[in-house]
Amino acid sequence: MIYLTRRERFSAAHRMFRPGLSDEDNLKIYGKCSNPNWHGHNYVLKVTVRGEIDPDTGYFMNATRLKEIINERVIEKLDHRNMNTETDFMAGKIATTENLAVAVWDELKGPLEAEGVTLHCVRIEETENNFIEYYG
Ligand code: NI
Repeated sequence: MIYLTRRERFSAAHRMFRPGLSDEDNLKIYGKCSNPNWHGHNYVLKVTVRGEIDPDTGYFMNATRLKEIINERVIEKLDHRNMNTETDFMAGKIATTENLAVAVWDELKGPLEAEGVTLHCVRIEETENNFIEYYG
């Protein structure tokens, strides 16, 4: 089994909050990330796929194709956008890195299977020190 990871970066605004709660209560739960006037992060996304080596070509997935799928399905919908209000796959979800990782997984799983590879891990780094990994 071979694993291939592609790294992409995006900058996006968000606010983590529960709509029924006051700004004060949201601040207690989510800290600075619940700022009512939004703020942004420079995110790093790492997508790992797995599969078998094709004996004829010696590799298993064209990394350029992987890049295209990630960009089309995910990066274009997030980069320089407000993920709470502009990103269709985050609509109605609290904009945590946890929820983002699951949503990105759901966006990529089908298109990658259509390429004959299996999605293995979605890793999103909100800062250098905090990251989420989702394995489905
Ligand atoms: Ni934040």
